[in-house]
Amino acid sequence: MQQIKESITAIWESAWDRGEVEAFDGILHPEYRRISTQSKHVVDAEALKQDILDVRAAFPDLVTTIDSLVVDADGKSAAIFWHTNGTFANDLQGVPATGNKVETRGSNLLTLQDGLVISEQVTWDQTELLADVGVPSLRSAFEAPSDGVVVDDLSGIPGREELKGFNRQFVTGVTVVTTVDDQGKPRGLAANSYVSVSLEPPLVLVCVQKTTSTYSSLFKSTHLGINIMSNEQRDTVGIFASKGDDKFATLDWHTGPNGSPLIDGSAASIEAEIKERFQAKTHTVFIAKVKHSEVAQLEPMVYKAGRFFDGAKLNEL
Ligand SMILES: Cc1cc2nc3c(=O)[nH]c(=O)nc-3n(C[C@H](O)[C@H](O)[C@H](O)COP(=O)(O)O)c2cc1C
Repeated sequence: MQQIKESITAIWESAWDRGEVEAFDGILHPEYRRISTQSKHVVDAEALKQDILDVRAAFPDLVTTIDSLVVDADGKSAAIFWHTNGTFANDLQGVPATGNKVETRGSNLLTLQDGLVISEQVTWDQTELLADVGVPSLRSAFEAPSDGVVVDDLSGIPGREELKGFNRQFVTGVTVVTTVDDQGKPRGLAANSYVSVSLEPPLVLVCVQKTTSTYSSLFKSTHLGINIMSNEQRDTVGIFASKGDDKFATLDWHTGPNGSPLIDGSAASIEAEIKERFQAKTHTVFIAKVKHSEVAQLEPMVYKAGRFFDGAKLNEL
């Protein structure tokens, strides 16, 4: 047992702390697989070695500490509890290096066969590492400052009215964001918080207030629909900007390939798979991957400072 412990520790340190990934060759079974508990992502020995080299390239001074290593009495399984420290010196998976010191931790459950590791199950909180490398979730914007932390001077930060005044200067279109509830009933609300995030991958964003009646259905859905209102849908906007038991009753609509309601007569509609639900206190920011789109030969409606305009009648500068 002691021998297994010593060899796991030595190999772990060689690979993770010095990048000598071939050290694994002596302990991994030819059919070795490593599965991440949360993502269900599976890698083989070669991919594991490459992952380690990639992490080491991003954190060249990485030091791993095994906090506890437990091997069961019959030598068939072992558990490792570990944490690592390193400086985020080089880019990692498209995240620019911040130079921040990072600490991350996890645990691995190893299954042994004939003294070799045949499989490994890893619990590792990737969100924690992302936060450490400078991609915190929006939650961090609302955390109370802890004792001893210097709080920013709040003078000069706009109040509610100033921010509303700022927003009034921003011209947008109007969308109706849709989903279906537990009973299969179509739901939706007017939203101008639509933003195109990226074309590759095709990601879009919409921000929804938690007090809306559509919110809980939207949060539980796998997909959502986003309909850009055309200049012929002023009444439709009115319906979706207020509460109503069956907002779709007087409308023509159809379902997208994944069941989201798409409203006929819209300037354009998409259906997207919800990928992220960032918590921003009163609102949730949904990020979704576009799976289906429909574009009509209709002019969009324009929204500015609480009023709606005909998108066909804009003067080009
Ligand atoms: C032009 C316009 C834009 C809006 N944008 C948003 C938005 O981005 N997010 C949001 O949560 N509510 C937005 N609203 C408000 C909702 O449409 C409104 O609260 C609606 O009544 C919610 O309906 P529900 O409670 O039935 O879901 C907007 C309203 C209008 C008129």
